[in-house]
Amino acid sequence: MSFEHTLQLIKEKMAGFTPEIGLILGSGLGMLGEHIENKIELSYQNLPGFPVSTVSGHSGKLILGHFAGKPVACLQGRVHSYEGVSPQGVKTLIRTLKHLGCHTLVITNTSGSLRPEVGPGSLCLITDHINFQPGNPLVGPNEDEFGPRFFPLDNAYDLALREQLKKTATRLQLPLAEGVYFGTLGPCFETPAEIRAFRILGGDLVGMSTVPEVLVARHCGLRVAAIAAITNLAAGLSTEAITHENTLYYGQKASANMLKLVHGFIEDLT
Ligand code: HPA
Repeated sequence: MSFEHTLQLIKEKMAGFTPEIGLILGSGLGMLGEHIENKIELSYQNLPGFPVSTVSGHSGKLILGHFAGKPVACLQGRVHSYEGVSPQGVKTLIRTLKHLGCHTLVITNTSGSLRPEVGPGSLCLITDHINFQPGNPLVGPNEDEFGPRFFPLDNAYDLALREQLKKTATRLQLPLAEGVYFGTLGPCFETPAEIRAFRILGGDLVGMSTVPEVLVARHCGLRVAAIAAITNLAAGLSTEAITHENTLYYGQKASANMLKLVHGFIEDLT
């Protein structure tokens, strides 16, 4: 079934509802979806072309409804390059948000910190990225109906949205670090030598998601804001083991503040 058919299927269920803001929920942050009001939930499994996630902590649901008084479309579950799935999956997810009516995309993720002063449980505003993930979902013939062949990434993480997020964090008295996201393929965590190298290259936090989503979103003209929940100090910076269980545990620990920040941000968004 084509992308258009899937969109049609979603629109039939939406009954006139038009989302303005897209939200992607990272590992252990899925509970944010529980705070969406008057919601319609659609399982990715029932949406032809939608990717079915293979990672625990990522449930695979499109949730439409109101959050902080605004109409949102929320992706509860994402795909990662390390799953070895086709890049079509991330394109379908992001372009669906655009086609349903979203103009802004708020991405959340869990990341490791390269800065000892930004520890597990902290929130970090992503200011930019360094792409160390091989490939790019936009390789191949350009799909002109979504965006141009060549497009800039100098404002990938929208400056005005970042300013707004900082104001919201101040209003809510939530500490918010800032930094450059270093995107790796995974699925293994890094070696201490890699982390030292990433630090020299300009990274402040490291993770295995987000970059492909930002690339597809910027191609189709979505404004992007991204916030990381720090789940661990990166390899070599702490004696605590880096495990997926710890990622989920600290992701959940940071989720109350993440919920407050994203809620306040969407409330303040004009
Ligand atoms: N490295 C890569 N991805 C991650 C990490 C990390 O240390 N923590 C959470 N996601």
